[in-house]
Amino acid sequence: MANVRTIDIRSDTVTQPTQEMREAMLSAEVGDDVYGEDPTVNRLQAIAAEMFGKEDALFVPTGTMGNLISILAHCQERGSEVLLGNHSHIYIYEQGGIAQLGGVVPRPLRNLPDGTFDLEELRYLYNPGTDPHRTKSAVVAIENTICGKVIPIEFMAQVKKVANELNIPVHLDGARMFNAVTALNIEPTELTKHVDSLNVCLSKGLCAPVGSIIAGKKDFITRAKRLRKVLGGGMRQSGVLASPGIIALTKMSKRLQHDHNKAKKFGKALLELRPDVFKLNLDEIQTNMVLFGVDPANFLKNTSNANAVKEFCARMKKPTSDCPVSVELLAYDERNARAVFHNDVSDEDFDLIIIKLHHVLKE
Ligand SMILES: Cc1ncc(COP(=O)(O)O)c(C=O)c1O
Repeated sequence: MANVRTIDIRSDTVTQPTQEMREAMLSAEVGDDVYGEDPTVNRLQAIAAEMFGKEDALFVPTGTMGNLISILAHCQERGSEVLLGNHSHIYIYEQGGIAQLGGVVPRPLRNLPDGTFDLEELRYLYNPGTDPHRTKSAVVAIENTICGKVIPIEFMAQVKKVANELNIPVHLDGARMFNAVTALNIEPTELTKHVDSLNVCLSKGLCAPVGSIIAGKKDFITRAKRLRKVLGGGMRQSGVLASPGIIALTKMSKRLQHDHNKAKKFGKALLELRPDVFKLNLDEIQTNMVLFGVDPANFLKNTSNANAVKEFCARMKKPTSDCPVSVELLAYDERNARAVFHNDVSDEDFDLIIIKLHHVLKE
Protein backbone atom coordinates (compact mmCIF):
# COMPACT_ATOMS: atom_id res chain seq x y z
CA MET A 1 0.00 0.00 0.00
CA ALA A 2 1.45 3.36 -1.01
CA ASN A 3 1.85 6.33 1.34
CA VAL A 4 1.48 4.42 4.59
CA ARG A 5 2.57 6.43 7.64
CA THR A 6 4.42 4.14 10.08
CA ILE A 7 4.67 5.24 13.71
CA ASP A 8 6.87 3.08 15.90
CA ILE A 9 6.03 3.30 19.59
CA ARG A 10 7.39 -0.10 20.69
CA SER A 11 10.23 1.57 22.59
CA ASP A 12 12.28 4.75 22.85
CA THR A 13 15.27 2.71 21.63
CA VAL A 14 13.94 3.20 18.08
CA THR A 15 14.63 6.95 18.10
CA GLN A 16 16.66 8.34 15.21
CA PRO A 17 19.61 10.69 15.81
CA THR A 18 18.52 14.28 15.16
CA GLN A 19 19.83 16.37 12.25
CA GLU A 20 21.96 18.37 14.72
CA MET A 21 23.49 15.09 15.95
CA ARG A 22 24.26 13.95 12.41
CA GLU A 23 25.98 17.26 11.66
CA ALA A 24 27.95 17.08 14.91
CA MET A 25 29.12 13.57 13.97
CA LEU A 26 30.35 14.83 10.62
CA SER A 27 32.51 17.55 12.10
CA ALA A 28 33.60 15.86 15.36
CA GLU A 29 37.24 16.26 16.32
CA VAL A 30 38.64 12.81 17.08
CA GLY A 31 41.71 10.99 18.40
CA ASP A 32 42.60 7.56 19.81
CA ASP A 33 40.42 7.21 22.88
CA VAL A 34 42.23 4.09 24.14
CA TYR A 35 45.17 6.48 24.66
CA GLY A 36 42.71 8.98 26.18
CA GLU A 37 43.32 11.31 23.22
CA ASP A 38 39.87 11.85 21.75
CA PRO A 39 38.94 15.46 22.60
CA THR A 40 35.23 14.94 21.94
CA VAL A 41 35.02 11.85 24.17
CA ASN A 42 36.96 13.71 26.86
CA ARG A 43 34.53 16.63 26.60
CA LEU A 44 31.50 14.33 26.87
CA GLN A 45 32.98 12.62 29.94
CA ALA A 46 33.79 15.97 31.60
CA ILE A 47 30.27 17.29 30.94
CA ALA A 48 28.76 14.07 32.33
CA ALA A 49 30.92 14.03 35.47
CA GLU A 50 29.90 17.59 36.26
CA MET A 51 26.24 17.05 35.44
CA PHE A 52 26.06 14.03 37.77
CA GLY A 53 28.26 15.52 40.50
CA LYS A 54 30.83 12.72 40.27
CA GLU A 55 34.64 12.79 40.13
CA ASP A 56 34.89 11.12 36.73
CA ALA A 57 32.89 9.52 33.92
CA LEU A 58 33.46 7.02 31.12
CA PHE A 59 31.82 6.63 27.70
CA VAL A 60 30.86 3.00 26.99
CA PRO A 61 29.17 1.41 23.97
CA THR A 62 25.91 0.26 25.63
CA GLY A 63 23.87 0.33 28.81
CA THR A 64 24.34 -3.41 29.23
CA MET A 65 28.11 -2.97 29.16
CA GLY A 66 27.85 0.05 31.47
CA ASN A 67 26.01 -1.98 34.10
CA LEU A 68 28.31 -4.99 33.69
CA ILE A 69 31.44 -2.86 34.05
CA SER A 70 29.99 -1.02 37.07
CA ILE A 71 29.01 -4.16 38.96
CA LEU A 72 32.35 -5.83 38.21
CA ALA A 73 34.23 -2.68 39.27
CA HIS A 74 32.42 -2.82 42.64
CA CYS A 75 32.81 -6.60 43.07
CA GLN A 76 36.56 -6.97 43.20
CA GLU A 77 36.68 -10.13 45.34
CA ARG A 78 35.71 -13.56 44.03
CA GLY A 79 32.54 -14.80 45.75
CA SER A 80 30.93 -11.34 45.72
CA GLU A 81 27.23 -10.69 45.26
CA VAL A 82 25.05 -7.77 44.17
CA LEU A 83 21.73 -7.10 45.93
CA LEU A 84 19.17 -6.00 43.32
CA GLY A 85 15.45 -5.94 42.48
CA ASN A 86 13.97 -9.08 40.94
CA HIS A 87 12.36 -6.98 38.17
CA SER A 88 15.53 -5.07 37.40
CA HIS A 89 17.11 -4.94 33.97
CA ILE A 90 20.46 -6.19 35.31
CA TYR A 91 18.76 -9.23 36.85
CA ILE A 92 16.41 -10.16 34.01
CA TYR A 93 17.50 -8.66 30.71
CA GLU A 94 21.31 -8.70 30.64
CA GLN A 95 21.77 -12.44 30.14
CA GLY A 96 23.16 -12.78 33.65
CA GLY A 97 26.37 -11.21 32.30
CA ILE A 98 27.56 -10.36 35.81
CA ALA A 99 27.51 -14.10 36.63
CA GLN A 100 28.33 -15.40 33.17
CA LEU A 101 31.39 -13.23 32.61
CA GLY A 102 32.23 -11.86 36.05
CA GLY A 103 31.43 -14.62 38.55
CA VAL A 104 29.22 -12.21 40.53
CA VAL A 105 26.16 -13.74 42.26
CA PRO A 106 22.88 -11.79 41.91
CA ARG A 107 20.92 -11.72 45.20
CA PRO A 108 17.35 -10.66 44.26
CA LEU A 109 15.10 -8.53 46.45
CA ARG A 110 11.35 -8.59 45.72
CA ASN A 111 10.37 -5.46 43.79
CA LEU A 112 7.12 -3.93 45.11
CA PRO A 113 4.52 -2.64 42.59
CA ASP A 114 5.99 0.90 42.78
CA GLY A 115 9.47 -0.41 41.85
CA THR A 116 10.96 -0.06 45.34
CA PHE A 117 11.84 -2.95 47.67
CA ASP A 118 11.62 -3.59 51.38
CA LEU A 119 14.62 -2.12 53.20
CA GLU A 120 14.27 -4.75 55.93
CA GLU A 121 14.67 -7.41 53.24
CA LEU A 122 17.83 -5.62 52.11
CA ARG A 123 19.23 -5.77 55.64
CA TYR A 124 18.11 -9.39 56.02
CA LEU A 125 19.68 -10.60 52.76
CA TYR A 126 22.94 -8.69 53.22
CA ASN A 127 25.90 -11.04 53.71
CA PRO A 128 28.91 -9.48 55.48
CA GLY A 129 31.19 -12.27 54.24
CA THR A 130 32.11 -13.46 57.74
CA ASP A 131 30.40 -16.84 57.27
CA PRO A 132 32.64 -18.91 54.97
CA HIS A 133 29.56 -20.68 53.55
CA ARG A 134 28.09 -17.51 52.14
CA THR A 135 28.81 -15.06 49.34
CA LYS A 136 29.82 -11.52 50.34
CA SER A 137 27.53 -8.57 49.54
CA ALA A 138 29.59 -5.99 47.67
CA VAL A 139 27.06 -3.57 46.14
CA VAL A 140 23.34 -2.70 45.99
CA ALA A 141 21.87 -1.89 42.56
CA ILE A 142 18.71 0.14 42.03
CA GLU A 143 16.97 1.23 38.82
CA ASN A 144 15.25 4.56 38.13
CA THR A 145 13.02 4.70 36.18
CA ILE A 146 12.00 1.06 36.43
CA CYS A 147 9.42 -0.17 33.89
CA GLY A 148 8.51 3.49 33.30
CA LYS A 149 7.91 4.17 37.01
CA VAL A 150 9.77 6.75 39.05
CA ILE A 151 11.39 5.59 42.28
CA PRO A 152 10.95 8.28 44.96
CA ILE A 153 14.07 10.21 45.94
CA GLU A 154 13.26 9.46 49.59
CA PHE A 155 13.57 5.73 48.82
CA MET A 156 16.93 6.28 47.12
CA ALA A 157 18.11 8.21 50.19
CA GLN A 158 16.97 5.39 52.47
CA VAL A 159 18.78 2.76 50.38
CA LYS A 160 21.94 4.86 50.54
CA LYS A 161 21.60 5.20 54.33
CA VAL A 162 21.23 1.44 54.79
CA ALA A 163 24.11 0.77 52.34
CA ASN A 164 26.32 3.19 54.30
CA GLU A 165 25.50 1.33 57.51
CA LEU A 166 26.40 -1.94 55.75
CA ASN A 167 29.50 -0.29 54.26
CA ILE A 168 28.70 -1.13 50.62
CA PRO A 169 28.22 1.21 47.62
CA VAL A 170 25.01 1.82 45.65
CA HIS A 171 24.90 1.57 41.85
CA LEU A 172 22.10 3.17 39.84
CA ASP A 173 20.95 1.72 36.53
CA GLY A 174 19.74 5.09 35.32
CA ALA A 175 19.27 4.09 31.69
CA ARG A 176 16.22 6.41 31.76
CA MET A 177 17.33 8.54 34.67
CA PHE A 178 16.44 11.76 32.82
CA ASN A 179 12.82 10.61 32.61
CA ALA A 180 12.84 10.39 36.42
CA VAL A 181 14.58 13.78 36.72
CA THR A 182 11.96 15.30 34.38
CA ALA A 183 9.00 13.72 36.19
CA LEU A 184 10.32 14.89 39.56
CA ASN A 185 11.31 18.30 38.19
CA ILE A 186 14.71 18.21 39.89
CA GLU A 187 18.35 18.70 38.93
CA PRO A 188 20.21 15.46 38.03
CA THR A 189 22.51 15.81 41.06
CA GLU A 190 19.53 15.72 43.44
CA LEU A 191 19.06 12.14 42.27
CA THR A 192 22.66 11.07 41.70
CA LYS A 193 23.88 12.28 45.11
CA HIS A 194 22.23 9.18 46.59
CA VAL A 195 24.37 6.73 44.60
CA ASP A 196 28.08 5.94 44.28
CA SER A 197 27.97 5.02 40.60
CA LEU A 198 25.52 5.26 37.75
CA ASN A 199 24.86 4.19 34.20
CA VAL A 200 22.90 6.54 31.92
CA CYS A 201 21.88 5.69 28.35
CA LEU A 202 22.48 8.38 25.74
CA SER A 203 20.47 6.44 23.19
CA LYS A 204 16.82 5.60 24.01
CA GLY A 205 14.81 8.77 24.77
CA LEU A 206 17.85 11.04 24.39
CA CYS A 207 18.21 9.99 20.71
CA ALA A 208 21.97 9.40 20.42
CA PRO A 209 22.62 6.50 18.05
CA VAL A 210 24.93 4.68 20.48
CA GLY A 211 26.33 4.81 23.95
CA SER A 212 26.06 5.09 27.68
CA ILE A 213 27.91 6.99 30.38
CA ILE A 214 29.05 5.57 33.67
CA ALA A 215 30.12 7.90 36.43
CA GLY A 216 31.58 7.63 39.93
CA LYS A 217 34.74 8.17 41.95
CA LYS A 218 38.13 8.42 40.19
CA ASP A 219 39.34 4.98 41.35
CA PHE A 220 36.02 3.41 40.24
CA ILE A 221 36.43 4.89 36.74
CA THR A 222 40.08 3.75 36.61
CA ARG A 223 38.93 0.16 37.26
CA ALA A 224 36.01 0.65 34.85
CA LYS A 225 38.37 1.71 32.06
CA ARG A 226 40.40 -1.50 32.42
CA LEU A 227 37.19 -3.57 32.45
CA ARG A 228 35.85 -1.78 29.37
CA LYS A 229 39.02 -2.77 27.49
CA VAL A 230 38.92 -6.45 28.46
CA LEU A 231 35.23 -6.64 27.52
CA GLY A 232 36.13 -5.40 24.04
CA GLY A 233 34.73 -1.91 24.56
CA GLY A 234 37.91 0.12 24.11
CA MET A 235 36.96 2.30 21.15
CA ARG A 236 39.37 4.37 19.08
CA GLN A 237 38.13 7.51 17.20
CA SER A 238 34.87 7.39 19.14
CA GLY A 239 34.40 11.15 19.19
CA VAL A 240 32.14 10.53 16.18
CA LEU A 241 29.82 8.68 18.58
CA ALA A 242 30.43 10.93 21.58
CA SER A 243 29.43 14.13 19.72
CA PRO A 244 25.72 13.20 19.54
CA GLY A 245 26.08 12.09 23.17
CA ILE A 246 26.93 15.68 24.14
CA ILE A 247 23.73 16.89 22.44
CA ALA A 248 21.81 14.06 24.15
CA LEU A 249 22.96 15.17 27.61
CA THR A 250 22.84 18.93 27.21
CA LYS A 251 19.78 19.35 25.00
CA MET A 252 17.64 16.25 24.52
CA SER A 253 17.51 15.55 28.27
CA LYS A 254 15.45 18.76 28.63
CA ARG A 255 12.59 17.88 26.24
CA LEU A 256 11.27 14.66 27.78
CA GLN A 257 8.18 16.28 29.30
CA HIS A 258 6.64 16.31 25.79
CA ASP A 259 6.90 12.49 25.70
CA HIS A 260 5.44 12.16 29.20
CA ASN A 261 2.49 14.37 28.24
CA LYS A 262 1.75 12.24 25.17
CA ALA A 263 1.93 9.04 27.24
CA LYS A 264 -0.64 10.40 29.71
CA LYS A 265 -2.88 11.62 26.89
CA PHE A 266 -2.71 8.20 25.20
CA GLY A 267 -3.62 6.43 28.45
CA LYS A 268 -6.58 8.77 28.95
CA ALA A 269 -7.75 8.16 25.36
CA LEU A 270 -7.69 4.38 25.87
CA LEU A 271 -9.83 4.65 28.99
CA GLU A 272 -12.24 7.21 27.52
CA LEU A 273 -12.75 5.17 24.35
CA ARG A 274 -13.20 1.67 25.77
CA PRO A 275 -12.86 1.27 29.53
CA ASP A 276 -14.27 -2.26 29.10
CA VAL A 277 -11.38 -3.26 26.78
CA PHE A 278 -8.33 -1.42 28.08
CA LYS A 279 -7.06 -2.03 31.60
CA LEU A 280 -4.66 0.52 33.07
CA ASN A 281 -4.14 2.83 36.00
CA LEU A 282 -3.49 6.44 34.93
CA ASP A 283 -1.46 7.09 38.10
CA GLU A 284 1.03 4.50 36.88
CA ILE A 285 1.82 6.55 33.76
CA GLN A 286 4.63 8.59 35.28
CA THR A 287 7.00 8.96 32.34
CA ASN A 288 6.97 8.03 28.62
CA MET A 289 5.66 4.45 28.92
CA VAL A 290 2.10 3.15 28.91
CA LEU A 291 1.56 -0.48 29.88
CA PHE A 292 -2.04 -1.58 29.39
CA GLY A 293 -4.08 -4.77 29.43
CA VAL A 294 -6.47 -5.75 26.62
CA ASP A 295 -9.55 -7.63 27.80
CA PRO A 296 -10.06 -10.72 25.59
CA ALA A 297 -13.82 -11.09 26.23
CA ASN A 298 -14.56 -7.50 25.22
CA PHE A 299 -12.03 -7.12 22.41
CA LEU A 300 -11.83 -10.48 20.65
CA LYS A 301 -14.85 -10.81 18.43
CA ASN A 302 -14.94 -12.62 15.07
CA THR A 303 -11.32 -13.73 15.36
CA SER A 304 -9.53 -17.03 15.84
CA ASN A 305 -6.58 -15.37 17.62
CA ALA A 306 -6.79 -16.36 21.27
CA ASN A 307 -4.43 -13.64 22.41
CA ALA A 308 -6.13 -10.25 22.69
CA VAL A 309 -2.85 -8.33 23.12
CA LYS A 310 -1.29 -9.82 19.98
CA GLU A 311 -4.52 -9.28 18.02
CA PHE A 312 -4.77 -5.62 19.12
CA CYS A 313 -1.12 -4.96 18.21
CA ALA A 314 -1.57 -6.69 14.84
CA ARG A 315 -4.64 -4.57 14.00
CA MET A 316 -2.91 -1.34 15.02
CA LYS A 317 0.03 -2.29 12.78
CA LYS A 318 -2.01 -3.23 9.71
CA PRO A 319 -2.69 -0.30 7.36
CA THR A 320 -6.09 -0.32 5.69
CA SER A 321 -7.44 1.59 2.68
CA ASP A 322 -9.57 3.86 4.90
CA CYS A 323 -6.76 4.33 7.45
CA PRO A 324 -3.30 3.98 5.83
CA VAL A 325 -1.47 4.22 9.17
CA SER A 326 0.68 1.54 10.79
CA VAL A 327 1.21 1.91 14.55
CA GLU A 328 3.78 -0.46 15.98
CA LEU A 329 3.20 -1.36 19.63
CA LEU A 330 4.96 -3.97 21.73
CA ALA A 331 3.09 -7.08 22.86
CA TYR A 332 4.82 -6.83 26.25
CA ASP A 333 3.56 -10.11 27.69
CA GLU A 334 0.49 -12.38 27.50
CA ARG A 335 -1.74 -9.73 29.10
CA ASN A 336 -0.19 -6.34 28.38
CA ALA A 337 0.75 -4.17 25.44
CA ARG A 338 3.22 -1.30 25.68
CA ALA A 339 3.42 2.11 24.04
CA VAL A 340 6.48 4.33 24.51
CA PHE A 341 6.48 7.98 23.40
CA HIS A 342 9.64 9.64 22.13
CA ASN A 343 11.16 12.42 20.03
CA ASP A 344 10.11 10.86 16.70
CA VAL A 345 6.40 10.95 17.56
CA SER A 346 5.23 14.39 16.44
CA ASP A 347 1.92 15.98 17.48
CA GLU A 348 0.54 15.00 14.04
CA ASP A 349 1.69 11.42 14.60
CA PHE A 350 -0.06 11.40 17.96
CA ASP A 351 -3.33 12.45 16.30
CA LEU A 352 -2.87 9.66 13.73
CA ILE A 353 -2.37 7.12 16.52
CA ILE A 354 -5.71 8.14 18.03
CA ILE A 355 -7.42 8.01 14.62
CA LYS A 356 -6.00 4.51 14.09
CA LEU A 357 -7.27 3.48 17.52
CA HIS A 358 -10.80 4.61 16.59
CA HIS A 359 -10.61 2.57 13.36
CA VAL A 360 -9.37 -0.57 15.12
CA LEU A 361 -12.11 -0.36 17.74
CA LYS A 362 -14.76 -0.04 15.03
CA GLU A 363 -13.56 -3.16 13.13
C1 LIG B 1 16.71 -0.08 32.49
C2 LIG B 1 17.68 -0.49 31.42
N1 LIG B 1 18.96 -0.69 31.74
C3 LIG B 1 19.87 -1.04 30.82
C4 LIG B 1 19.52 -1.21 29.50
C5 LIG B 1 20.55 -1.67 28.50
O1 LIG B 1 20.86 -0.74 27.55
P1 LIG B 1 21.45 -1.16 26.11
O2 LIG B 1 20.28 -1.58 25.30
O3 LIG B 1 22.12 0.08 25.62
O4 LIG B 1 22.42 -2.27 26.33
C6 LIG B 1 18.19 -1.01 29.11
C7 LIG B 1 17.78 -1.19 27.70
O5 LIG B 1 16.65 -1.14 27.33
C8 LIG B 1 17.24 -0.64 30.09
O6 LIG B 1 15.94 -0.46 29.79
